[in-house]
Amino acid sequence: MSSSSSSVRTDYDVVEYPHRAFAQTQPDRLAVLGFLFGMQPALPDRCRVLELGGGSGGNLIPLADLYPNSTFYGVDLAQTAIDQGNKRIAALGLTNIRLEQMDVTNFPADAGEFDYIIAHGLFSWVPEPVRDKVLRICQDHLAPQGIAYISYNAFPGCHIRRMWRDMMLFHTRQFEDPKLKVEQGKGMLNLVANGCTRNDPGHLLAKDEMKKRGHLDDAAIFHDDLSGCWQPFYLTEFLSLAGAKGLRYLGEAAYSDMQPTTLTPEALAQFEPIREQDPVAFEQYMDFFKMRKFRQTLLCRATVPAQPAAAVDRMRQFHFSAPIQQVPVQDPNAPPGTTSFRHGINDVTVTTNNPVSLPALRLLAERWPASVSFDEMAAVAGDPQALAAVLHTFYSSAFINIHSIPRPVANSASAKPEVWRVARLEASIDKAIPHLHHGSIELEDDATRHLVTLIDGSRTRDDLAPFAGGLQQLEGTLAKMARAGILIR
Ligand SMILES: C[S@@+](CC[C@H](N)C(=O)[O-])C[C@H]1O[C@@H](n2cnc3c(N)ncnc32)[C@H](O)[C@@H]1O
Repeated sequence: MSSSSSSVRTDYDVVEYPHRAFAQTQPDRLAVLGFLFGMQPALPDRCRVLELGGGSGGNLIPLADLYPNSTFYGVDLAQTAIDQGNKRIAALGLTNIRLEQMDVTNFPADAGEFDYIIAHGLFSWVPEPVRDKVLRICQDHLAPQGIAYISYNAFPGCHIRRMWRDMMLFHTRQFEDPKLKVEQGKGMLNLVANGCTRNDPGHLLAKDEMKKRGHLDDAAIFHDDLSGCWQPFYLTEFLSLAGAKGLRYLGEAAYSDMQPTTLTPEALAQFEPIREQDPVAFEQYMDFFKMRKFRQTLLCRATVPAQPAAAVDRMRQFHFSAPIQQVPVQDPNAPPGTTSFRHGINDVTVTTNNPVSLPALRLLAERWPASVSFDEMAAVAGDPQALAAVLHTFYSSAFINIHSIPRPVANSASAKPEVWRVARLEASIDKAIPHLHHGSIELEDDATRHLVTLIDGSRTRDDLAPFAGGLQQLEGTLAKMARAGILIR
């Protein structure tokens, strides 16, 4: 296959998009969801993955290193991004991944079949013919048990986002320079949020939006909020486009997003009957309750029989991990043996003395970031049936991760520690580096970045200590690196 469109300079060549991995697109995660919904998806260590609009390969390159027996193909319109990705691929000597500059509308018919097709941050930001082609590619190239991941801006929440976008677009209409556009756009939001004496709901919303925008990369604001194309969809609209291409709804990439957690019991009782009759309509109603702004929808071929999630029955085949730590119990009246575990990402704390949950969570906390098999957990928790139900509940609330195969990551540093080579390479380029759970962490400073590049399995702690401010600091840093999931030994 070769690139069939000549390279034109795009906005993404002018303002480069961050090079990042997205846990929600990890084939392992997609495989688990496929299994839960009764499919027989390819395992991540033997699969074929296509990514459309994947930029510089921040998402595919770590996967290609992690799964050498799988193949990865990424296409993107921006030549600068492709060049940067290809430099990384050459530096890592990867032979199971290809990145090509291409307009997806020219995607070659002979590209073959893929077990996973990913389009993250593309669909809502491209014109209709490109969107149509994205779905057409899924129709033509998805394997019979393949899963497509497509993220897009969603209604109704994006009605509110559109309000900010329109104000920013109006205010920045006279600026050409992207940096100035972003600065002025944010400034405009700030003014609306804080420069008004009224404190009505609209201004509270503006303040909230300002807070969220404050955390975002300028490149993300430029491309996501201020881009020429910006088309949100209701779930049902998106699925009718997908249906026209022989594809159907499988689920969301975050299983927890499919749970009606924000509803009062009374509201849930009203909608529960719809859930069985028409699961898609149920999900659409849930979007109204959640004011959903963004979806990460999984599609499969319409010919795959639809099945409700057989989650509990499936648990025995999986592996589990959770970024949790034991923390002091807050309730002074808690019965003896009660233990609390805090989730390091979503900051949720679970307190339990349940004889099944407690040993399971303790084992997960000890092992993080490594994964634990169901059998290992059953050995400490007893009662496999109850364990399966408990694990499903924790997965439903995003308190634990499920894996289709064990995740190869060390939870402590060996005598000659080694940071994953993809993370080491990235530390020499950027301050955000990928970890083995397919997200990224930010390194604090240049000294830490340099240290990361040196932890390559050839040096002892004594060799590394001078670069870490001494042995004691090195121990602390290595412990943090282990928790962050960047060590392989
Ligand atoms: C918002 S960025 C998302 C990049 C990456 N998927 C992520 O989420 O970090 C959109 C990407 O789509 C690419 N793109 C836009 N239109 C395209 C087209 N017609 N064909 C291929 N790629 C396109 C852009 O060059 C850019 O890299």
